[in-house]
Amino acid sequence: FKIPEIRNEPMKTYSPHSEERAKLQAALKELRKKAPIEIPILVNGEEIRTGKIEEQRIPSDHATVLAKYHAADHATIDKAIKGALTAKVNWEALPFNDRATIFLKAADLLSVKYRYKLLAATMLGQGKNAWQAEIDAAAELIDFWRFNAKYAQEIYQQQPPINSPGVWNRVEYRPLEGFVYAIAPFNFTAIGGNLPSAPALMGNVVLLKPSPSAVLSNWIVLEILREAGLPDGVIQFVPGPAEDITEQILKSPDFASLHFTGSTHVFKKLWRDIGNNIEIYKSYPRIVGETGGKNFHVIHESANIENAVLQTIRGAFEYAGQKCSATSRVYVADSVWDKFRTTLLTEHAKIKIGPVEDFKNFYGPVIHKASFEKIKRYIEWAKDDASSEIIAGGIYDDSKGYFVHPTIIVTSDPNSKTIAEEIFGQVHLPVLTIYVYKSEDYEKTLDLVNKTSEYALTGALFAQDRYAILLGHNKLRNASGNFYLNEKSTGAMVGQQPFGGARASGTNDKAGSATLLYRFISMRTIKENF
Ligand code: SER
Repeated sequence: FKIPEIRNEPMKTYSPHSEERAKLQAALKELRKKAPIEIPILVNGEEIRTGKIEEQRIPSDHATVLAKYHAADHATIDKAIKGALTAKVNWEALPFNDRATIFLKAADLLSVKYRYKLLAATMLGQGKNAWQAEIDAAAELIDFWRFNAKYAQEIYQQQPPINSPGVWNRVEYRPLEGFVYAIAPFNFTAIGGNLPSAPALMGNVVLLKPSPSAVLSNWIVLEILREAGLPDGVIQFVPGPAEDITEQILKSPDFASLHFTGSTHVFKKLWRDIGNNIEIYKSYPRIVGETGGKNFHVIHESANIENAVLQTIRGAFEYAGQKCSATSRVYVADSVWDKFRTTLLTEHAKIKIGPVEDFKNFYGPVIHKASFEKIKRYIEWAKDDASSEIIAGGIYDDSKGYFVHPTIIVTSDPNSKTIAEEIFGQVHLPVLTIYVYKSEDYEKTLDLVNKTSEYALTGALFAQDRYAILLGHNKLRNASGNFYLNEKSTGAMVGQQPFGGARASGTNDKAGSATLLYRFISMRTIKENF
């Protein structure tokens, strides 16, 4: 068995009057009609209904409940842990080819059978437009499943040791001893799929806690995996109150790994809690996480300004700035600032805001009330700050959905809060802050970009001058985990740009690469004399 040659899943374009657009619109309509969908907990293949109901609402229409899900309680989590450990016995003994087949089949099922259903759930539930949903819930998740299978096969085929006369050395790649706890974010359905799937592919069992704002899409992903043949108990689906569930899970001696995507302060707290519990565990848990970013664009005076502006608009405002990779600070050379500003404002004015079920809208709501309130305070802070000028947006309205207009701030203070700091525990915002630097201070500005933020997720440099590119490449070496040249800070493709950040942005284990998969295996070395 050899994994077939893998290519990125082709993306659909949903052009007007196309069959694919009609199918997606039909799926949206059907989902609206069926809402609220009841979602159970899934433990050992058994659908459990605790009766403790929580809701996922439509962010562009918050009066409407999209899904009602059963929240896991103490007894359910206990059962999920025990059941996962039991399921592990057969799962880890299953040959890799059989495990891989399940994920490859899931990729095909999503591609041909569940695409529109999962896109509709992502659009309505998480506020993504059709194209953003396609990038995420179709293309990226299919790619994760397929490329992971390829990377895993390459890992298993590696036999690093050499032999000596009479000695046969070999290594064995075991799954971790215990279970993996995956905590998923709201902003990418694909990440909610990859967080449990990557460890499971390597023979691990996983408890998955979906984000309350993405329960429906994460549930559909589980349905696909079950149809593809995922055995009961391998991925336990346990939505519910994050703190209670997490506290209980982290107290299990069999807790072997955290696979997390979410906010920095939560990740740091989990890390501390794991540290405090260290005496309980049978092994040192593997902690793998991707968190926030304060992602930059640097515009050198040699840049193609039209391209730099278009990329900045897309980087900052696609999916209402809620990607962890979203552009949030821009440094523009003063010699090109006038042109940059004029073009930026022209492009900004073209952004169509509204519910994304309507295909004419590019820009939808933010995810929930708490996020809306935080952004509001952020904008109000900028209005009062003497060094900040809001040049576009700054408007918000939550009467029907959580809408915050794409907002652009220009600051004269390179250490201003909005350019330098995480504010109110929130970095994923449709708010972009620009600082205009003196063109001759390009080198100093690169140092400023590097030291301004505690984060290092993504960043981009726009320049045509090769010396400027080289200088930026070297000086910004540690300022991001993904560095783009003449391309926006968002949109990493699986198999092309392994994704992840360092510093406060995460453990940089790179989703969409073998590096991530290595975190979920534990090598055994075997020496045999003969
Ligand atoms: N991988 C996504 C991007 O690059 C973010 O999670 O935009």
